[in-house]
Amino acid sequence: MKALIIYLSVHHNNTEKVARVLAKALDADLLKVREADAAILKQYDLIGFGSGIYFGRHHKSLLNFVETLPVLKNKAAFIFSTSGLRKIQFIHNFDKPLKEKLKRKGFDIIGQFSCKGYDTYGALKVVGGINKERPNAQDLKQAEDFARGLHDKRTSSYTMNNYQA
Ligand SMILES: Cc1cc2nc3c(=O)[nH]c(=O)nc-3n(C[C@H](O)[C@H](O)[C@H](O)COP(=O)(O)O)c2cc1C
Repeated sequence: MKALIIYLSVHHNNTEKVARVLAKALDADLLKVREADAAILKQYDLIGFGSGIYFGRHHKSLLNFVETLPVLKNKAAFIFSTSGLRKIQFIHNFDKPLKEKLKRKGFDIIGQFSCKGYDTYGALKVVGGINKERPNAQDLKQAEDFARGLHDKRTSSYTMNNYQA
């Protein structure tokens, strides 16, 4: 199984830390969104898509990139993110827009990973931000476990979130 990870990490490189751990555990190639295109994706069986969460969804550049893709066949995908706030169903369900786009492009989504990331957006800056040091060693260990699980659970979807304080 050939794996690729496409990511974007612009605020504090939080998601990049996760992307690197996932890539190592999966022996996957790692590309920033601007380095990827549809032709490259065709060479892979499993593709991970990740970024920080911005205004309740993955970064616009990642969502726009997925929008440019043709409908692809026989591709498995997983998604990942770091965020200031935890995922909350209906209120802050930030995986949904990316998942729906990927499904429309024919991907079989086999897993989702998210954890906290250091956040100094807006007024948070005044108090020094929230989630300092996140993702931390425990988050990255969970990301590694998640990636190893992807290898085993190729056929069933599973979710791992790490939002412990
Ligand atoms: C402009 C902006 C908007 C953000 N919006 C959200 C949000 O809606 N929900 C959330 O949980 N975190 C939000 N965050 C926090 C980021 O998701 C968090 O810091 C993330 O770890 C950044 O990842 P990165 O360093 O890989 O870009 C926002 C941060 C910025 C700068």
